[in-house]
Amino acid sequence: MLEKTKVAVLVSGGGTNLQAIIDAEKSGIIKDGEVVLVVSSSKNAYALTRAEQNNIKGVYAKSEAEILQALEESSAELIVLAGFLKILSKDFIRRYENRIINIHPALIPSFCGKGAYGLHVHEMALDYGVKVTGATVHFVNEIPDGGKIIAQKAVEVQDGDTPEILQKRVMEQAEWVLLPQAVQQISEEIRKGKENGND
Ligand code: GAR
Repeated sequence: MLEKTKVAVLVSGGGTNLQAIIDAEKSGIIKDGEVVLVVSSSKNAYALTRAEQNNIKGVYAKSEAEILQALEESSAELIVLAGFLKILSKDFIRRYENRIINIHPALIPSFCGKGAYGLHVHEMALDYGVKVTGATVHFVNEIPDGGKIIAQKAVEVQDGDTPEILQKRVMEQAEWVLLPQAVQQISEEIRKGKENGND
């Protein structure tokens, strides 16, 4: 059996989705991938502390060139955007075609695209008055939140929800479940592809 798929997780904030991936690797839900690198676009992101606590290389990158260098040094094969708030360039996306996935805290094509991130997404859902929202994992292409959908999970909106309450429910019921599953699925596909000599 060839070695596991090397996974890099790109973050900007607290890193609860990163934590869900780390926990899933430990519990065996992710068995075909291993997180080898965490890259943060923000110096003080708690996600970097999580990386350190788990003996994973953590890098603060100021530019896309620095991100690329870290990815190449770690031989990353799958890139997971987990609360990463920078838009990646076309060149970057082409370099890792079908190898970048993102978690979005709504059911795409609702409440997505440029400017739709974090708590704003839940504000948008509550303002619109939807009764169901959720999370989506998708491949990243040059259109923000426009790549092929890998998985979605619905979550109920409840009376009296604030953006914060809804965000927490969507994370607990959808994001932290869906993202590790997707990381396992794509890691397995990449690993099998290597075994068959496609890589
Ligand atoms: C998550 O809810 C993620 O879905 C969202 O940012 C949060 C990051 O939380 N991403 C986006 O809105 C991307 N458009 P975390 O740092 O605790 O994982």
